[in-house]
Amino acid sequence: MAASNEGTTEHVHQPVLVDEVVRLLAPRPGEVFVDATVGGAGHCVRVAEHLAPGGRVIAFDRDPAALVAAARRLARCAVPVDVVHARFSEVAPNMCARGLSRCDLLLADLGLSSVQLDDPVRGFSFGSDGPLDMRMDPGCGIPAATLVAQLSTVELARCLREYGEERHARVIAHTIKSSVPAPNTTRQLAGLVERAVPRREWGRLHPATRSFQALRIAVNDELAELDRLLESIPELLAPGGRAAFISFHSLEDRRIKLAFRRLATGCVCPPRLPVCCCGKTQQFELLNRRALRPTADELRRNPRARSAKLRGLLRLSAG
Ligand SMILES: C[S@@+](CC[C@H](N)C(=O)[O-])C[C@H]1O[C@@H](n2cnc3c(N)ncnc32)[C@H](O)[C@@H]1O
Repeated sequence: MAASNEGTTEHVHQPVLVDEVVRLLAPRPGEVFVDATVGGAGHCVRVAEHLAPGGRVIAFDRDPAALVAAARRLARCAVPVDVVHARFSEVAPNMCARGLSRCDLLLADLGLSSVQLDDPVRGFSFGSDGPLDMRMDPGCGIPAATLVAQLSTVELARCLREYGEERHARVIAHTIKSSVPAPNTTRQLAGLVERAVPRREWGRLHPATRSFQALRIAVNDELAELDRLLESIPELLAPGGRAAFISFHSLEDRRIKLAFRRLATGCVCPPRLPVCCCGKTQQFELLNRRALRPTADELRRNPRARSAKLRGLLRLSAG
């Protein structure tokens, strides 16, 4: 994903850590691959190349526009591809509806694509002015402007603090809620944040970056979506299956790291017990202890990859 909000003019999405994803997932002919966030299909095409003969791809995205572009790219794949308009919290029921109970490979490349970020109409960026929307699926939920209008000052401050880790949450929330008229566009919101945060406190990032991240997470319920996908891994991943998750900020990465660690924990009995009493057996194994990061070369080609972290998980074969 493109993690930042600096509003460059790039209009294609460059997938991040692609070689690392392919190495980690190690796709093989005949395997079923679920891409939970197909976006521009950059990762999907590369993984799908390894699945013929006999493999299959189920590609999800909540953004209908992304799916149109992905379907076009994936039409040339050598294996059957289903493109599904759904949130990734609904992967399991959608698999069942296609007669599949499990997959061998699962990829979640979180956040936004550059195509979404760079389109002013989507309202994700303050680089150019646009409606304060931020919905990944424009047909679902409420735009950011409505959310801001509905939240009280205290609730807005909490949102900015929890989802943006914003130190100036209170003063920003107060400035936004005191504005008449209420902000309706991305530039109006960014201007209010600029006014709220003293210039000496502006760091490397634009002062509105964290507020935009927070509102986007709230509008799309992103952390609950991620929690649900992580919870569904035991149900989704077949024995021997591999999962890869790419995150772009610490709120996502922390959740992935903890969930993977929990899943990869086996017997929790004290070592002095002669036999296991907890009944837990290890079903998963971490594929990498430390998150993989983009190389300097990738960062030169794609600066938006700078905060990407990749973690992998293996479901151990039964018995
Ligand atoms: C970083 S992009 C994926 C880019 C893709 N890997 C590629 O190579 O082009 C993230 C995509 O995930 C989608 N997305 C984010 N949250 C989602 C969710 N909860 N359910 C389904 N799709 C989601 C976004 O709409 C976006 O298209």
